[in-house]
Amino acid sequence: MRKKIIAGNWKMNLDKNQVVDLIENIITNPINQFSDNHKLMILAPSFVYLESILAKTKNVNYIKIAAQNCSEHQIGAYTGEVAASMLKSIGVEYCIVGHSERRQYYHERDEVLLQKVNQILQQNIAPIFCCGEPLSIREDDSYFSFIEQQLNDVIFKLDENDFRKIIIAYEPIWAIGTGKTASDVQTQEVHQFIRELIKNKFNNEIAEQTTILYGGSVNATNAAQLFNQKDIDGALVGGASLKYQDFITIANAL
Ligand code: PGA
Repeated sequence: MRKKIIAGNWKMNLDKNQVVDLIENIITNPINQFSDNHKLMILAPSFVYLESILAKTKNVNYIKIAAQNCSEHQIGAYTGEVAASMLKSIGVEYCIVGHSERRQYYHERDEVLLQKVNQILQQNIAPIFCCGEPLSIREDDSYFSFIEQQLNDVIFKLDENDFRKIIIAYEPIWAIGTGKTASDVQTQEVHQFIRELIKNKFNNEIAEQTTILYGGSVNATNAAQLFNQKDIDGALVGGASLKYQDFITIANAL
């Protein structure tokens, strides 16, 4: 059975006190049915909070910690960068790659994303690979081929064993932080398409095992309907992951 996941991407938000408040509220409000090992909560704080969040969650078996990014280089003179091996050394188990904000504001191209994925996999960290189309591509109806290309250029270059470690997040850019969620039908259509591509590229068993999250204005009101769809295995949540009541409501809807 594939894993269901609620991931919170805190992005560049919250000061230290706010982070402490948020994590304490998350861990003291138990989530229904998250202890049976096939539902996970993943939290992605800023680099500076990773170690303290790891320490605070170390006894909560359903919570895992992700970095929001890492360097495409192994180690060395890259001022300001963080290597996957450093993340590994403090106990990070997941890392987001290819978020649309990284692609857009930091010009991360597929080549670099593939290098990042490889660095992450070498450390036995699981990549959460983001894909998704901008509004113009949605409007001219070419989103299937756009998404297929994003997968072909990065994670479909991996071998079968490495691909098994990947979590995919479909995040249509027009729905991120805009309050405009893709409808459950629009989302299911793309998730089903991605699963079909995985099946064609690898095989049915791998396609059925791959967790595919949706991201883009998921909130306490729309989560349950999205999670009802057969190929939506959870969510990568931005804004609503900063409010613990909302985040817990979303987790309980899974
Ligand atoms: P949002 O962000 O939930 O605020 O739309 C989602 C994301 O960027 O992962």
